[in-house]
Amino acid sequence: MSGTSVDGIDAVACRVLGRGSRMRATVLQHVHAAYPSTLRRALLDAMSPATTTTETICDLNRQVGDAFAAAARRVMKRAGISARDTAVIGSHGQTLCHRPDAGSTLQIGCPAVIAQSTGCRVVADFRSADVAVGGQGAPLVPWTDWVLLRDTRRTRAVQNIGGIANVTCLPAKGGVDDVTAFDTGPGNMVMDELVRSFSRGGRRFDANGRLAARGRVCDAVLADWLSLPFFRRRPPKSCGREEFGRAFVAEALRRHARRRLRPEDWLATALALTIESIARAYETWLPKRERETRRDSKRFGLPPIDEVILCGGGSRNATLRRMLASRLGGVPIRRIEEFGFAAGAKEPVSFALLACARLDDVPANLPQVTGASRRVLLGSLTEP
Ligand SMILES: Nc1ncnc2c1ncn2[C@@H]1O[C@H](COP(=O)(O)OP(=O)(O)O)[C@@H](O)[C@H]1O
Ligand SMILES: [Mg+2]
Repeated sequence: MSGTSVDGIDAVACRVLGRGSRMRATVLQHVHAAYPSTLRRALLDAMSPATTTTETICDLNRQVGDAFAAAARRVMKRAGISARDTAVIGSHGQTLCHRPDAGSTLQIGCPAVIAQSTGCRVVADFRSADVAVGGQGAPLVPWTDWVLLRDTRRTRAVQNIGGIANVTCLPAKGGVDDVTAFDTGPGNMVMDELVRSFSRGGRRFDANGRLAARGRVCDAVLADWLSLPFFRRRPPKSCGREEFGRAFVAEALRRHARRRLRPEDWLATALALTIESIARAYETWLPKRERETRRDSKRFGLPPIDEVILCGGGSRNATLRRMLASRLGGVPIRRIEEFGFAAGAKEPVSFALLACARLDDVPANLPQVTGASRRVLLGSLTEP
């Protein structure tokens, strides 16, 4: 798996027992293989029409395939498993472009290269089938969140904070049709881009939110950002670099230049955007509890959940965790590590399970989540 942060590949080797909604996964090894900086820059350039060519994209498909294959071989070696022990590799690939409203999405990382290089069969291109039947093709992890993290007593919000932030709400005792999930907006993406820009490419992210913690939130910029139509849109909805990438940050820096904000103020404001968009999304779009009226939940500002489970790279940011806890006012925040997965391991485990679901003929998109017209099998199979 590599997400919209384009930071690198998270690969897991995991043992999967059971089928469909009864699957259980144990992580044997987890590897994070950072992209070499030249490949990372090439991928980011390839996401803007002005800075790419068809040839470049064609070659990157191969290079990303090689990088994914190397990560897979590394994690297999560390776990001490061979191709013969391996039922399947699930490869999300790297999203270059995601335009579900135009009916298209593109993840690169040639699966034939991964299959030939590892000797394993590969399931890849998970998003296309859902998009083909009218869905957003995202998020796809809600089904696996439900498989792995549902609870009989507590209503849980599984909040992933990658480049983009997405939530899966798992009501207590809820079935698969009760799951709500959508992208809440930017996770680390706006903060990462600001840091990149202020450090002239020298730094990739604000470690632990240290810079953001020193800054002051600019209410005018925050209000401007929060007025974007995306935040008002009713789910199903998904977003990516198209909404919150380089262009979004460049435009904000230009538009608000006269405010003379310091870098730390920009970071504080971008972090506030992540926190505020998550909290408002909970208040607006998560299902209300039966005993709560709309007015009650407004009055107390209570999201209708018993606990939040944080995952993704942003869950390693202590300032972010502190601010989210304070904004959600008393809802317990737990980290995914408590459930046996490293922060960066849960998403790749999800794609391992989605690959298993594909082999078991279990459709794994959730139409109420993606907006697809029906449940479909996700992913294409490539044999070595
Ligand atoms: N210690 C940390 N402090 C702050 N941010 C972090 C830390 N570790 C990781 N991150 C953030 O997490 C991002 C990567 O998260 P990840 O879950 O891999 O996202 P994606 O799925 O978009 O690739 C980094 O770009 C960075 O912004
Ligand atoms: Mg990542």
